[in-house]
Amino acid sequence: MRGIILAGGNGTRLHPATLAVSKQLLPVGDKPMIYYPLSVLMLAGIRDVLVITMPGDTPQFRRLLGDGSHLGLNITYARQDEPRGIAEAFLIGAGHVGADDVALVLGDNIFHGNAFSELLERESANLNGCTLFGYPVTDPERYGVGETDGEGRLVSIEEKPLRPRSNRAITGLYFYDNDVLELAKDLRPSARGELEITDLNHAYLKRGQARLVDLGRGFAWLDTGTPESLLQASMYVRTLEERQGVRIACIEEVALRMGYIGVEQCHRLGENIGKSAYGQYVMAIADELAA
Ligand code: TTP
Repeated sequence: MRGIILAGGNGTRLHPATLAVSKQLLPVGDKPMIYYPLSVLMLAGIRDVLVITMPGDTPQFRRLLGDGSHLGLNITYARQDEPRGIAEAFLIGAGHVGADDVALVLGDNIFHGNAFSELLERESANLNGCTLFGYPVTDPERYGVGETDGEGRLVSIEEKPLRPRSNRAITGLYFYDNDVLELAKDLRPSARGELEITDLNHAYLKRGQARLVDLGRGFAWLDTGTPESLLQASMYVRTLEERQGVRIACIEEVALRMGYIGVEQCHRLGENIGKSAYGQYVMAIADELAA
């Protein structure tokens, strides 16, 4: 399976913080936002990742993540000139996806939960059409909302419904089979001029090939789109990290635990940023697993 991180957009709700810097490079807790979606793809077993950014932003992302080889990954970059919709990722990323399945994650979505890696690996192995991930929310009218039958098959998707049929918001992580490339070509821009991911999901729903997997209790799915939610996400990450002594979305640790790099390389990556508590943590993890 190939991975795409969609990290464009104008981040207008975060202006002026995002006037000169991409939202997905802002810190959440002690690390750049993009570490969180990147770690999700890595936990799904994905090593080939395309990062899509606004045109001027690619150099900074490249400075941060390079070609990914230091993490045992292959990271490439592409540009989206304007935020013309989430589904455009499959037109921009068609060459990257090739003949494979693909996981798309939005660059500003933060997921955290127990046994996430097992869930992701299972869903990617069992993919047949499209698999979406649902999260119970108290304000479903703000989201795309999915309703399923007894077997987890999607029977309706509504975008920001006035009277939601369920409380399950569709999160910014999507698994698709290779047909997505053809289906994306057939999309027409919506009234707001975007290629809508909901339309793509509808196409799979019509085929009876769309599943919604619940990220239930005990999972966190956090928003980072406004100053308040960004601060809340930072506080959530910090609280957990302080209480438990583990780090969320430490990409060096994920690379090590997934077997993409060895302990020596992990230690080296920690040393490179060894003056920070994050760097110290990376070295300590390498030492722990080496012992
Ligand atoms: P949004 O939150 O819809 O947009 P935004 O991040 O630009 O924020 P704002 O509403 O404050 O202007 O996008 C969700 C995520 O998807 C975010 O990571 C940006 C990304 N995105 C793109 O990269 N390209 C797009 O065309 C769209 C619609 C979103």
